[in-house]
Amino acid sequence: MPTREEILEALKAVIDPELHKDIVTLGMVRDIEIGEGRVGVTVSLTTPGCPIRSQFQTAVTNAVRGLGVPTVDVAFDVLTDSEKQALGRKLGRTQLPEGALAQVEHVICVGSGKGGVGKSTVTANLAAALAAEGKRVGVLDADVWGYSIPRMFGLGGQRPPVSASRKIIPLEAHGVKVMSIGFFVEEDSAVVWRGPMLHKALTQFLEDVDWGELDVLLVDLPPGTGDVSMTLSQLLPEAKFLLVTTPQPTAQRVARRAAEMAHKVSLDIAGVVENMSGFTTPSGERFQLFGEGGGQELADELDVPMLGKVPLTMPLRAQADAGVPLTLEDPDDPAAQALRHTARGLLALLPVKLRMAAAAPVEPAAPVLSITQVEPASAAPAPTGPSLPMAG
Ligand SMILES: Nc1ncnc2c1ncn2[C@@H]1O[C@H](COP(=O)(O)OP(=O)(O)O)[C@@H](O)[C@H]1O
Ligand SMILES: [Mg+2]
Repeated sequence: MPTREEILEALKAVIDPELHKDIVTLGMVRDIEIGEGRVGVTVSLTTPGCPIRSQFQTAVTNAVRGLGVPTVDVAFDVLTDSEKQALGRKLGRTQLPEGALAQVEHVICVGSGKGGVGKSTVTANLAAALAAEGKRVGVLDADVWGYSIPRMFGLGGQRPPVSASRKIIPLEAHGVKVMSIGFFVEEDSAVVWRGPMLHKALTQFLEDVDWGELDVLLVDLPPGTGDVSMTLSQLLPEAKFLLVTTPQPTAQRVARRAAEMAHKVSLDIAGVVENMSGFTTPSGERFQLFGEGGGQELADELDVPMLGKVPLTMPLRAQADAGVPLTLEDPDDPAAQALRHTARGLLALLPVKLRMAAAAPVEPAAPVLSITQVEPASAAPAPTGPSLPMAG
């Protein structure tokens, strides 16, 4: 039988296809058990619903069989939060300064593979539903190119004020704190930021916005798996990912790519919301306009809960356009009911965090001050990109 060292050496051939490094270097080999004619290997995954679990299974088996071991048992567990953070550091991730979102309990990124599946509609209505449940809720519109959150909350043409401590104060509507790039550009003008500019703006949205105490911050991601999603997932290593898809198989395939992106940046996928799942006519006839079953299939595949099926209804669209979320305007509409159900399911999933504030007094000003002292340049306009007005 090979030794532990020989097995570890062989396992260096197993490359995480998303992180582009081998599982030994990544510290994902949790345990090796050597028995008579068999070797057991436990691999720690970044998320329980890891879409590439079966690839690891095959690669690990092949690597150890290559040493002449007849039977290879591969088991999986999940990295703890602190192990994931250590992994993030190993991969050279940038992180928010400590304390930036200290008063925000949970961050949930709402993503989809493609646009037009109702991601923003779901985000806005979930936020309103959570607020109606008595939660303190914020929405960060991170869809910088296709921002639609201001309109959905009836917040067109307003600019957020800046506090005495030079923090941007989110606008508030229907009990939800809202921040969007749309507040800083001419109405309906195009945002062309990319790369470093984008990174800076998004960092500011998290760092320089006075979110205050929130139970949940929902982040409306742009479609796809591009710059913004990557930046945010890196800045928010503890965020959960909520996937929105329509019922048809093609949408589900693109949604799976978003899931792979979440895995790549070690974000847990909280669950799936299927939107546009069926339309019922006033006479009660039901049509599956966008097919059937895609959301459940995706949830099964990722081994995460299916949190809701939201039907197509005219009022959901109309209320989004009118700037009052339907979950508030008509909670009994079938789509509103589904979204309120989703909101409660989401809440039930979130672990109850022990508030640091209860154990030690929080001094929110301290981290900000120390950063300006250490790095005075960060207070000046950055040469690489635009600043939101308050920092310019
Ligand atoms: N379940 C639904 N019923 C009716 N209209 C919907 C539904 N979901 C989304 N819409 C409408 O579809 C359009 C696209 O939705 P939106 O939330 O902007 O998608 P995304 O943010 O994914 O691009 C909007 O006009 C929205 O009002
Ligand atoms: Mg949108």
